[in-house]
Amino acid sequence: KTMSINEMEERVRAIKKRFGKRLFIPGHHYQKDEVIQFADATGDSLQLAQMAAQNSEAEYIVFCGVHFMAETADILTGDYQKVILPDMRAGCSMADMADIAQVERAWPILQELFAGTILPLTYVNSTAAIKAFVGRHGGATVTSSNAKNMVEWAFKQKERIFFLPDQHLGRNTAYQLGVALDEMAVWDPHTDRLEYKGDIKKVKVILWKGHCSVHENFTVRHIERIRQTKPDMKIIVHPECSWEVVQQADYVGSTKYIIETIQNAPAGSKWAIGTEMNLVSRIIREHPDKEIVSLNPYMCPCFTMNRIDLPHLLWALESLERGIMVNQIAVPPLIAQDASQALARMLALA
Ligand code: 13P
Ligand code: SF4
Repeated sequence: KTMSINEMEERVRAIKKRFGKRLFIPGHHYQKDEVIQFADATGDSLQLAQMAAQNSEAEYIVFCGVHFMAETADILTGDYQKVILPDMRAGCSMADMADIAQVERAWPILQELFAGTILPLTYVNSTAAIKAFVGRHGGATVTSSNAKNMVEWAFKQKERIFFLPDQHLGRNTAYQLGVALDEMAVWDPHTDRLEYKGDIKKVKVILWKGHCSVHENFTVRHIERIRQTKPDMKIIVHPECSWEVVQQADYVGSTKYIIETIQNAPAGSKWAIGTEMNLVSRIIREHPDKEIVSLNPYMCPCFTMNRIDLPHLLWALESLERGIMVNQIAVPPLIAQDASQALARMLALA
């Protein structure tokens, strides 16, 4: 017999009560409402991992987000804290676009081409193995909220940066700091080639050819449509959107920035938001006094985020209660050690 939603919710509530402070459930802003209602904290990926680390009473961290976030939480938390991902299929298409073997292949070629003048940076949306690689080479992680500061920091260390795995966040951030488009090159991991226009000696930023399959669904055409039909509507997008979209938007910033900007906006203001659907729907519901739409009318879900649903959450919790730790995310110690260097360099500047 299939269980009703009410019964599943009841069971989750009861288990949470029985575990008390020994259990911590972080929920990323892009998670479904059926999951977010049970989150002990909501936030962006880094905030959540940091909260888990500070929450020293929590023995079990059932991470409602995607794989790389659970890895980051495992790296930042103590040994006695176990991190669980309710569905192992909850990956991230962007993180999957940079494989450590591809990075290891690219690095010596780039090092030779640019005579060792490159510092690697990686968006937190990447595997632990890539964070470890970056950590070993003196680099750091970045998030969408601190990318600008981190790129500035990197340019104080070396002449050039190698930005993984999101070409859009890298390009948008570097451009904001005055790097021209023809001073940026793109490394294609499928052809092992560097794509650039003009003079290679001018290249300051090497972008990895990766992107977010959710945010690429917001296009210049969507912006033009809003400008024509709703000229008084403001457009706000995440920096994982393309350079063209970011150039034409009114505001650009991380998940946290988008939430705060709408919160602080006056009643009656009109907004088109370019980010993940679960978050946009929640913002629309929380602000009935404002006119808010998704920049892409078909909305844009992150399918892997959505793999964490109520049945998987319940399954992970019920297994835990029976003493079976399903889907534990445990980063191998040597990788965790190097990756934590990359995270520490970022946290020191935050
Ligand atoms: P933040 O949570 O850091 O804003 O990143 C957005 C995102 O794409 C998460 O996967
Ligand atoms: Fe990855 Fe994009 Fe989904 Fe975030 S929204 S988890 S970057 S695919």
